[in-house]
Amino acid sequence: MPTLWSGRFDGERDDSLRLLGDSLRFDRRLYAEDIATSRAHARMLASVNLISDDELADLLVALDQVEHEIVDGSFAFAPSDEDIHTAVERRVSDLTPAGAKLHTGRSRNDQSVTGLRLFTRASIDNVSELVRALQTTLVDKADSMGTTAMPAYTHLQRAQPVSLAHHLLAYAWSLQRDIERLADTRHRVNVSPLGAGAIAGSTLPLDVAATTNDLGFEKTFDNSIDAVGDRDFVAEVLFDLALLGVHLGRLAEDIILWCTSEFGYMKLDDGFATGSSMMPQKKNPDTAELARGKTGRLIGNLTALLTTLKGLPSGYSKDLQEDKEPLFDSVDTITQIIPALAGAMETATFDIVRMEQAASDPLLGATDLAEWLVASGIPFREAHAIVGDLVKRSLAGEDSFESLLAASPSFGPAALERLKSGASRPSGHGAGSPEDTERQIDRLRTLLDER
Ligand code: ARG
Repeated sequence: MPTLWSGRFDGERDDSLRLLGDSLRFDRRLYAEDIATSRAHARMLASVNLISDDELADLLVALDQVEHEIVDGSFAFAPSDEDIHTAVERRVSDLTPAGAKLHTGRSRNDQSVTGLRLFTRASIDNVSELVRALQTTLVDKADSMGTTAMPAYTHLQRAQPVSLAHHLLAYAWSLQRDIERLADTRHRVNVSPLGAGAIAGSTLPLDVAATTNDLGFEKTFDNSIDAVGDRDFVAEVLFDLALLGVHLGRLAEDIILWCTSEFGYMKLDDGFATGSSMMPQKKNPDTAELARGKTGRLIGNLTALLTTLKGLPSGYSKDLQEDKEPLFDSVDTITQIIPALAGAMETATFDIVRMEQAASDPLLGATDLAEWLVASGIPFREAHAIVGDLVKRSLAGEDSFESLLAASPSFGPAALERLKSGASRPSGHGAGSPEDTERQIDRLRTLLDER
């Protein structure tokens, strides 16, 4: 079987190397990006007179046909097709003699990473759209929950009363950082490496700005060695997706806890839960468990790529072919998780009575009571100790916390009112008072409209 380098070789590639080295199995997914790259490259070659207008026309017709064949499934991949680039070029060359000129001034080193950048750019846009949809679900849910109170937890111990809305908005804000991080990464993804050739560009008069513009890149590479060896953009996206996964996993963990009989705050719709094959009473929060569990592979993919990159010499080495599978897997994984989690949140119901009941535990007001004393000039440490003593005595069974509070010379019956305000209590910036919650919802809706 002839290879792209058979001029210099006498022997054939061993089957074991073919199995090890061929990337078609996974990079055929990049056919549209590869064909788009070839179209731009061909147009540029014609514009600088390296091919004729007729040859360009033939190449564009052939590339269209290759794309149709791949889409409709009639494309016949050959055993010699190492990767998608080889396959497309081979078929174009079957269709037109101009195919022999398509690879003028380029290498698969710059070609493959150009396609991967196009794929990554589109993936960022798709994932960002999904994250926005989940944010919208969370904001809508928060909006509909009014001042429903629940305990906020630190160390998973009841801490202070908050509104459920405030809690739901916390997830939306973490997702906002994910959107911004992806948008920032996108600028570094959106750089054309086309024209860098194998490692040192080309002696031919290529117009790199033309292909940059044609493919919608923001800028052109600055250094050909860097351009073919750089996979920072893949690592960055893998990190962005891993952290996004970590955020989703934490939301998922809250869902799992809230769905336990012990918490009993939340019920998932049947469509987002599963039963047990053995225990008839079970309802399991699989959607959330998988969102939590799949985060492991998102982190694994980032680790895999960084480990591949570590210690590589400059320029292209075949190791870099290992950039694709982790990226594809992370994009696919996150694309599965988000709609399921959004659907679970959208259709979930909350046991408001149970949440309010938990939030009405008077001890949750201890911090506010200490601050109440601060307002009358008592140093916070002293105030903390005064309230702490009341807590200790109520836990020891002397009397209820409320009775001890009402009887305390530092407080008196007026302090009981302070306890009752619960989630509607006045609070500072970003702390979830009703006005603050409204401000957060408005701000998030504005950000969601901006895009
Ligand atoms: N399939 C290869 C990759 O994905 C294309 C580049 C191959 N370059 C080479 N010099 N063999 O990285």
